[in-house]
Amino acid sequence: MNLILMGLPGAGKGTQAEKINEAYHIPHISTGDMFRLAIKEGTELGKKAKEFMDQGDLVPDDVTIGIVKERLSKDDCKDGFLLDGFPRTIAQAKALQSLLSEMGTSIDYVLHVDVPEENLVERLTGRRICPTCGATYHVIYNPPKQDGKCDNDGSELIQREDDQAETVKNRLEVNMEQAKPLLDFYDDKGYLVTINGDQEINQVFKDIQSAIEK
Ligand code: AP5
Ligand code: ZN
Repeated sequence: MNLILMGLPGAGKGTQAEKINEAYHIPHISTGDMFRLAIKEGTELGKKAKEFMDQGDLVPDDVTIGIVKERLSKDDCKDGFLLDGFPRTIAQAKALQSLLSEMGTSIDYVLHVDVPEENLVERLTGRRICPTCGATYHVIYNPPKQDGKCDNDGSELIQREDDQAETVKNRLEVNMEQAKPLLDFYDDKGYLVTINGDQEINQVFKDIQSAIEK
């Protein structure tokens, strides 16, 4: 199954991707995670991506398309994949289309996790992540069992750089501008399924399961 998860920053893409990955065993490909790893490792890609991410801007299409191309060519993507946070522009969507047709495959569903804009700032500023295993928490909506510590490995949870209030505002603006044409693009092709993301995390997942198991 080839899936794309779309949604504004904070809509819950990463949270649902973890659940989809557990249930369906398809690789979770997050461009945001790939860029953060490159930054941590201090690679050229990381240096390039950091200047855009720190401002809440999009990383240029050629860079982003390049890393997705490379990732999708790996063997573990042959039986399906879950793209999270890609594509984010029409140019990326078109590049993905040509790539998939070269691979002899296509998209099954584009799942749009839809959350009212007014909830997103609170979701982002309250998010905490584990620097060791990447797990995502929220101080109110999804707190760890022990305050400030990861359930999986006990690491001290941290805040993402781009979750500071000033950056959040720009990220939301930039992404909102790109979202509408992209949703129309996939709607026209008949791939788009809208999921109500303004519900409890497990209910959102149940709705995703019903949509893809139909
Ligand atoms: P990326 O890492 O993809 O960030 P994003 O799209 O801004 O999305 P987030 O990870 O912030 O949110 P999410 O939807 O995954 O929400 P989460 O599940 O964590 O990208 C980062 C940057 O990289 C971009 O700004 C850009 O610079 C660059 N980039 C990445 N891809 C790119 C591309 N294709 N092109 C160009 N540049 C690119 O949930 C958020 C919080 O809410 C958590 O605390 C969670 O616990 C909580 N939560 C989740 N679900 C619920 C719920 N149902 N109810 C209550 N709380 C919930
Ligand atoms: Zn952890």
